[in-house]
Amino acid sequence: MYSLSQERPDDLWEVEALYDLCFAPGRTLLSSYRLRDGVPPVAELCRVAKDEAGVIGGVIRYWPIRIGAAQALLLGPVAVHPTAQGEGLGAALIRDTLERARDLEWGRVLLVGDEPYYRRFGFAKIEDVEMPPPTNPERVLALELRPGAWSGVTGTVTRKT
Ligand SMILES: CC(C)(COP(=O)(O)OP(=O)(O)OC[C@H]1O[C@@H](n2cnc3c(N)ncnc32)[C@H](O)[C@@H]1OP(=O)(O)O)[C@@H](O)C(=O)NCCC(=O)NCCS
Repeated sequence: MYSLSQERPDDLWEVEALYDLCFAPGRTLLSSYRLRDGVPPVAELCRVAKDEAGVIGGVIRYWPIRIGAAQALLLGPVAVHPTAQGEGLGAALIRDTLERARDLEWGRVLLVGDEPYYRRFGFAKIEDVEMPPPTNPERVLALELRPGAWSGVTGTVTRKT
């Protein structure tokens, strides 16, 4: 049984270890990490799933980004411990935080990931919004939390300064 809560400062190393376990070495060299450099994550949307013993089995973080003058959320990284995968924990973390993001009046969410997984949450490939290279455009997916929020938003994603 897992419960979701906001990531706390003393969760940091356990969270980083979980990301290291779940992603290929060199994950921080991905272009999406350049959008996170020196920018604080959105604290209310950085959530962990802890078991009864307080051990973290899943984690999600979000960063603010810009596309021209438009603001958006960058979802991720999201990771679930290999021993807990396939039990709905990833979906629970994603659904919980998207609901919170809507409540916090964010309108747009972007991510780089597998469309076959993320389409169940409403994400779809977005045209004319480019992540910094090298990023496969097929993996750039977007979700509207407010109807029409992505209309007319085009260009290159940049770091929120
Ligand atoms: C991706 C991840 C967060 C999903 O978390 P999870 O708790 O295992 O997922 P859920 O239990 O919510 O969903 C499981 C379902 O998603 C599917 N799924 C998982 N990863 C998938 C992927 N990359 N592409 C397509 N489907 C995927 C599973 O096959 C399963 O399908 P089913 O419901 O038909 O049985 C987790 O597998 C993980 O940490 N993977 C390694 C890190 C990673 O790839 N993170 C995402 C970066 S884009």
